[in-house]
Amino acid sequence: MFNQLEKILSRPKPFEVYSTDVLWTDEHTAKQMMKHHLDPDVDISSRRHSFIENSANWMIERFKLHSGKHVIDFGCGPGLYTQRFARSGAQVTGVDFSSNSLDYARKQAEKEDLSIDYILQSYFEFEGNQKADLITMIFCDFTAMNLAQRSLMLKKFATLLKPGGQVLLDVWSLAGYAHREESTSITHSPDGGFWSTEPYFEFMNILKYDEEKVVLNKAVIIEAERTREVYIWHQYFSKEQLRKEFEAAGLRIHTWLGNVGGAEYDETLDEFAVIAEKME
Ligand SMILES: C[S@@+](CC[C@H](N)C(=O)[O-])C[C@H]1O[C@@H](n2cnc3c(N)ncnc32)[C@H](O)[C@@H]1O
Repeated sequence: MFNQLEKILSRPKPFEVYSTDVLWTDEHTAKQMMKHHLDPDVDISSRRHSFIENSANWMIERFKLHSGKHVIDFGCGPGLYTQRFARSGAQVTGVDFSSNSLDYARKQAEKEDLSIDYILQSYFEFEGNQKADLITMIFCDFTAMNLAQRSLMLKKFATLLKPGGQVLLDVWSLAGYAHREESTSITHSPDGGFWSTEPYFEFMNILKYDEEKVVLNKAVIIEAERTREVYIWHQYFSKEQLRKEFEAAGLRIHTWLGNVGGAEYDETLDEFAVIAEKME
């Protein structure tokens, strides 16, 4: 028992294990994440829908997303942004590895007769043969990746941009890091719940890595017949670190914002957003 508890509470190296996919592609948890996406009043999976409405409108205006413009939305989920871009006349590609989300997104597009190219694939593997005027990655998905994955994605963005094309994404800030606290909790779900339809215990460890400014949500899910570990990482960024990573990939950040809805940059907020273009 002692050894098992030590293992449950152990602290891996930052980004040592990648298991983000479990959250989005496991049949049961993907359905739970979907409920959050579609709940208009919570900031889980997607932001609350009033924010999405306002931020999509801001993006449409800021990037003039009308006929003749092509947007690629990485990690598009159930299409809450892509459908809004398509309604304004833009050509839209949505990339996501959750079949559950894309099934929903495709049905919604069909209902409205919107032509959106949804691609079921890990975005690390996405090649794409059509360049974009705008590339988006929304709700801090960029922060769930390790440095090598972030570098790969930024280089991909640079090759996918049309001349004059732009990248818009949001990240967690250092203020956000300061607001997080380490904790350990145990929950018993005798009738099943978020992780399974079977009864389970969940140990949730929130671990902070001060040097790297990384937070890990490590869930250990113990069912009668199986035990799983799920690691959800978040990199928190200073302006300098984000600028360095973008520049290493040939991208220049030219605008700093408070969020992807066009709010003013504010270093006391938990997040910020940037707009970047390809360096000459
Ligand atoms: C936090 S959600 C945000 C969804 C959407 N951008 C929004 O704001 O409504 C992250 C999305 O990225 C997708 N995702 C995560 N890792 C991915 C990967 N490696 N390849 C493709 N999609 C991925 C998930 O399936 C999920 O739909």
